[in-house]
Amino acid sequence: MTKQNKYTDSIRKHLRCFLCAPFFMVLEASGEFILPYLNADMIDRGVAVGNTAYIVRNGLLMFVTALAMLIFGVLGAYFAVKGSSHLAAEVRAKTFRQIQKFSFANIDEFSTGSLITRITNDITQIQNFAQTLLRGCFRSPVMLVGAVCMSFLLNPRLAAVICVVIPILGLATALLIRTASPRYTQMQKKLDGLNNQINETITNERVIKSFVREENEKEKFSAVNQVLMEKSISALKMMILMQPVSTLAINVTTLAVVWIAGRQIMIGGMEIGTLTAFITYLTQILTALNFLANIFLQGTRAAASNRRISEVLETCPDLTDESAAQKDRQITGGGIEFQNVSFTYSKKKDPVLKDISLKIAPGSFVGLVGSTGSGKTSLISLIPRLYDVSAGAVLVDGTDVRELSLTKLRESVAVVLQKNTLFSGSIAENLRWGNAQADPEELRRACRIAHAEEFIRRFPEGYDTDLEQGGTNLSGGQRQRLCIARALLKHPKILILDDSTSAVDMATDAGIRRALEKELPGMTKIIIAQRIGSVIEADQIIVMNEGRIEDAGTHEELIRRCSTYQEIYYSQRDEENAAV
Ligand code: UTP
Ligand code: MG
Repeated sequence: MTKQNKYTDSIRKHLRCFLCAPFFMVLEASGEFILPYLNADMIDRGVAVGNTAYIVRNGLLMFVTALAMLIFGVLGAYFAVKGSSHLAAEVRAKTFRQIQKFSFANIDEFSTGSLITRITNDITQIQNFAQTLLRGCFRSPVMLVGAVCMSFLLNPRLAAVICVVIPILGLATALLIRTASPRYTQMQKKLDGLNNQINETITNERVIKSFVREENEKEKFSAVNQVLMEKSISALKMMILMQPVSTLAINVTTLAVVWIAGRQIMIGGMEIGTLTAFITYLTQILTALNFLANIFLQGTRAAASNRRISEVLETCPDLTDESAAQKDRQITGGGIEFQNVSFTYSKKKDPVLKDISLKIAPGSFVGLVGSTGSGKTSLISLIPRLYDVSAGAVLVDGTDVRELSLTKLRESVAVVLQKNTLFSGSIAENLRWGNAQADPEELRRACRIAHAEEFIRRFPEGYDTDLEQGGTNLSGGQRQRLCIARALLKHPKILILDDSTSAVDMATDAGIRRALEKELPGMTKIIIAQRIGSVIEADQIIVMNEGRIEDAGTHEELIRRCSTYQEIYYSQRDEENAAV
């Protein structure tokens, strides 16, 4: 995505706002330099000579001008707010869509907190800048040029003073901007840190409370908050400096003008009304300059934010199916093959899977065992392409998964992850993640197979029972069973259960497996289990060790020849005997 079309689509769509805002603001500005002229005229030709009719006529004209200015000002501000809000909303939507395409690796690269900052605060900076720009981009230059012309028209000698102030103010602004720019980038980075901290703390509130780590989290938060505050002060004081600098300029110039004009008035070369008008123009010139400087300062800040948004939009999602050759292919069988697969989570780390070759027949039941950290979860993550292989290939139905449509692949492969999650909403709503159209009978059937029906029935509201975020008002085993049912509703060709019955009792665990075999015989099933008992009847048991397949075979074969398998099996049997 190029830098231009990030905003141009939206500007084109809301062109009316983007044209009307500056137009009305310019109209408002025109009034600003007509008013002092009328005022000066009223003082010199009306008040000074006691011409009441002139005063009334000019007064009325001034009132109408002021009223028109008010209307134009309101209209200009309205279109500026509308245009900039639409612009921000559309860029936010674009950024969100892009983040949705990101792989886990892409998200890790930015960090969740940073993505949150970019999609909220950074876009708000752009919105504020767009609004200021729409209001001031023509108004301020028009006011500046208009007021300079009018002051030259009134008194060219006095106007020369202005030519001295303008470059001084310009130079001061340039210096401030140069210092402020890197500080804004720093400030946004610290905001990323703060959001990361908030995200981690709030998501893990239960664990924090159970370990009584609130104080520790408070300290961690205070530290990042303090750093952000310091960086904000350092960046924003540049903006704050702008105000006193321009006020000083206004005051010094006014003093110089009054000094020069005073002498001219004394010798009769100038009228009081002209001086009043002149000072008003002077104030307008400096206000316009101040506004322009503000636009530049806000622009510097928005530029820093714009770079951060561009980084997100220009990052190529490293896991797409855009160039997949067989997008229309449906998965019908459910056979899986790993061909010399190696995999690493990041280029800097050692591979967690090394040269894996493996064949799984359609409709078979495969067990996956191995010590913790041996690479079981990593292995199965490659089948629905949650990650891509680093070397080799994973084939489903004989086709490389990278050649298939991601949607079709993931629709056919249901994974119940070790770290499973439910969402806020009712049980039925959660189950329908698996299949939005599922009727109540289908929900009940999936829950029967997953042995979830009996506990759902015990809830007074049954399938309409509301779950809290993450399903925290359910027990671990209940959550696991709902997750299995949710996966079954997808009618997958391949079902992967990653330690998904670790929290249910052995009898229920066996019941779920029997139901799966009986009700869904054609579905390929891969079950990762800590308990050998869970996979003992599998057609093939794969034993993993330190990222490699140590052996594969049936229980009878492995118990005869695989030492790691024997070790796991006998240690578990001894434990069970000891427990009895
Ligand atoms: P796995 O998560 O594949 O191991 O991590 P496992 O066999 O499933 O382990 P258990 O039984 O669930 O505990 C394999 C290796 O990959 C690394 C881990 O450090 C581990 O050594 N890993 C895992 C990462 O580097 N990044 C991850 O996101 C996950
Ligand atoms: Mg695991």
